[in-house]
Amino acid sequence: MRCQVAIVGAGPSGLLLGQMLGRAGIDAVILERKTPDYVLGRVRAGVLEQGTVETLAAAGVGERLMRERLIHDGTRIAFAGRVHRIDFNELIGKTVTVYGQTEVTRDLMAARAAAGYPTVYEAEDVGLHGIDGAKPHVTWRKEGIEHRLDCDYIAGCDGFHGVARAAIPAAAIRTFERVYPFAWLGVLADVKPIDEELVYAHSPRGFALCSMRGPARSRYYIQCATADLEAQWTDDRFWDELRRRLPEEWAAKVATGPSIEKSIAPLRSFVAEPMRFGRLFLAGDAAHIVPPTGAKGLNLAVGDVRYLAEALIERYAENSDAGIDGYSARALRRVWKAERFSWWMTTLLHDFPEGGEFGRRIQTADLDYLFESRAAMTALAENYVGLPY
Ligand code: APR
Ligand code: PHB
Repeated sequence: MRCQVAIVGAGPSGLLLGQMLGRAGIDAVILERKTPDYVLGRVRAGVLEQGTVETLAAAGVGERLMRERLIHDGTRIAFAGRVHRIDFNELIGKTVTVYGQTEVTRDLMAARAAAGYPTVYEAEDVGLHGIDGAKPHVTWRKEGIEHRLDCDYIAGCDGFHGVARAAIPAAAIRTFERVYPFAWLGVLADVKPIDEELVYAHSPRGFALCSMRGPARSRYYIQCATADLEAQWTDDRFWDELRRRLPEEWAAKVATGPSIEKSIAPLRSFVAEPMRFGRLFLAGDAAHIVPPTGAKGLNLAVGDVRYLAEALIERYAENSDAGIDGYSARALRRVWKAERFSWWMTTLLHDFPEGGEFGRRIQTADLDYLFESRAAMTALAENYVGLPY
């Protein structure tokens, strides 16, 4: 079997790349380790930048998104008993879209199936070969049978724990990492959201976030210990703790009900440089991770894929390597700005016990300044809605 681009991973990165390449007439095969249901079972963040929405729409997967999305003009930040509002629209004339990433994945899967582009699910032991030469190939096993796919290029869209980044020799890649001393406990419940917009809360008991998936479905998170287990957090304990981290009159507005999903995720900042080795390109979580506080994970992946698709299309249409040679540096410039913003939002809003009282005073000063300064609010707004392409 042969194709032009082999894509490893059918998360949002791999599926969007496949969609963009397919529409440009480039034949790409996606290899995914799990089943479609497994991929769709992962609950992920839900805030899309305007540039992300435009990219999805231009790729032909914006129809349901445009119909069902919630547009948010701003967000709220609670601290020291008060709730402040950052009005993105008023400050910089832009908004964000709330639409679950799982739904983005579902739309991309449906478009791929409708176009008849090939995807191999349950591909075991995917192996990347010859990535530093002119003729790479990919191997895998399915139902006990070994397969081989020859290609021109490989896109590693297989997430943080994938095989693509690991296939790059250690001497050819540098990684940068910060692991945070806490995790997020997320709960999904069919209850009315606390507000029409998201509420990020800083409290002495730790961070909390009130988000949503629709008018009758809420998504809440609280900072918890990395070692905590879901089983230790009964629904009652979760709702009590969430309310204790919000100002009183907001706590009273929290509608409670049985959780339909509950999961704990560690927080990490991570970047691998460069995002290319020979004929292998990394995109999305395979190359970088952000803590979810700035809601940048999917948006960054879409940025990478946009640049990579452009570069590969240029390669085939104009027989030019300029785009693929510039891909890593171009993507990393955008990645590091989102890394900085996500790290800053995380540092601003969480409780860091080891930072001591000095750290807490600095946090308070940072938050005070944010709400006293239009320049500071504008900087937050500009980054949150997404820096320009
Ligand atoms: N072989 C084949 N597929 C693999 C392998 C492997 N060895 N390892 C991982 N995969 C698959 C995973 O099963 C997953 O479906 O690659 C996919 C990677 O998807 P994501 O982890 O969602 O990464 P990405 O597509 O880059 O997503 C970027 O969207 O879903 C969010 O949190 C995610 O914010 C991030 C963004
Ligand atoms: C979510 O809705 O899941 C969500 C929203 C904003 C974030 C993180 C997660 O910063």
